[in-house]
Amino acid sequence: MKYVLNGIGMLFGLVFVFMLITVGVVSAANKPKRENEQILPGKGDTPKKAIIIYQPGITKVTTRIAQQLAAGLNEGGYEVTLNHPGKYLSTDLSGYDLIILGSPTYAGQLAKALTKYMEQVCPKLAKAPDKAPRLVLFATGGLEQTEEFDRLTHILSGLNVVRKIKFTPKKNEQIAYDLGIELAKND
Ligand SMILES: Cc1cc2nc3c(=O)[nH]c(=O)nc-3n(C[C@H](O)[C@H](O)[C@H](O)COP(=O)(O)O)c2cc1C
Repeated sequence: MKYVLNGIGMLFGLVFVFMLITVGVVSAANKPKRENEQILPGKGDTPKKAIIIYQPGITKVTTRIAQQLAAGLNEGGYEVTLNHPGKYLSTDLSGYDLIILGSPTYAGQLAKALTKYMEQVCPKLAKAPDKAPRLVLFATGGLEQTEEFDRLTHILSGLNVVRKIKFTPKKNEQIAYDLGIELAKND
């Protein structure tokens, strides 16, 4: 009986530690990160402009996807700015022809740092008098389900969303690079 009770106690302890680690990981993943602007110069005198705003995750999968998207767009002639979502970023993105927003999925949601930024930026874009820039939303995750996008329908309404894509271990960096090339071609 003593062994059974000890076993149950250890099991609860392990579950508790696992939950603590999960909560810690999710809350760290949601927080804004430091500014990290990178600009890849485009081709020609007046290249089209894209901005990729992505929340870097813990294992750098999202960072690598963002960089491959940027490399594909840049190969297609675009000037590409990369940065992380945060207060330091302008909420006026009307100067860009293409806006790409991305984040890892943790516990079925995109990072709060990104969704908070989207709440500020997207209504302004929807009201812009000129032609709305194309917008791409991407997530990275281990699962094929895309409920994280469904949660953002209200924020994205009225915008020119041309693609919502989730990169899973099966859909990887080469696909991100090819998507960058494709987006640069179909402008
Ligand atoms: C605690 C935790 C929760 C996760 N929740 C989800 C989830 O709900 N859906 C999903 O598709 N992937 C989920 N994942 C997998 C991550 O989204 C995936 O590994 C992601 O590509 C990591 O990106 P990063 O390296 O940029 O952090 C989870 C991973 C961890 C560690």
